[in-house]
Amino acid sequence: MNENYTIEPLTMSDYPEVYQLWSETEGVGVGPTDSEARVAFYLERNPGMSFVARADGTIIGAVLCGHDGRRGYLHHLAVRPEWRGKGVGQALVEHCLDGLRQVGIARCNIFVYTHNLPGRAFWEHLGWKERSDLIVMSHDV
Ligand SMILES: CC(C)(COP(=O)(O)OP(=O)(O)OC[C@H]1O[C@@H](n2cnc3c(N)ncnc32)[C@H](O)[C@@H]1OP(=O)(O)O)[C@@H](O)C(=O)NCCC(=O)NCCS
Repeated sequence: MNENYTIEPLTMSDYPEVYQLWSETEGVGVGPTDSEARVAFYLERNPGMSFVARADGTIIGAVLCGHDGRRGYLHHLAVRPEWRGKGVGQALVEHCLDGLRQVGIARCNIFVYTHNLPGRAFWEHLGWKERSDLIVMSHDV
């Protein structure tokens, strides 16, 4: 396998392939907020902050990243199974953190399913800290 890949900003022309990747990836929960319109809105609000990794024209990894002016948020990090363990996930995360740093955002948060033990181990390996003092609560607007 050719191990070369590039990392580029995620654009809406990538959406169908990225949505497919998210749908096939364990640990990534796709829902109504991942519709084409919602993702387009998200990218518009957070230009150039989300990324895809591509090899031989195929998307092998993707991540959404943005901020609300105070904190950064990273969502839906996914790498194709055959490409895992080659640094793609970490490279995508680093691109996101660089983007946040450039606009002065000092901390980034992620949401990880409690049952996603490999995902949690990945983040811990990269130095992310679990917050035992917080839980996530949601409300339909
Ligand atoms: C989690 C995921 C994105 C990691 O991507 P990846 O490209 O395989 O990760 P990398 O190769 O960049 O790994 C970077 C480092 O983390 C380590 N690592 C990777 N996966 C790990 C895991 N599950 N547990 C512990 N460490 C892990 C690697 O060994 C590497 O360490 P090193 O630099 O010290 O050698 C990928 O496994 C995936 O898509 N999983 C399913 C989706 C998911 O759970 N996403 C997170 C949702 S919150």
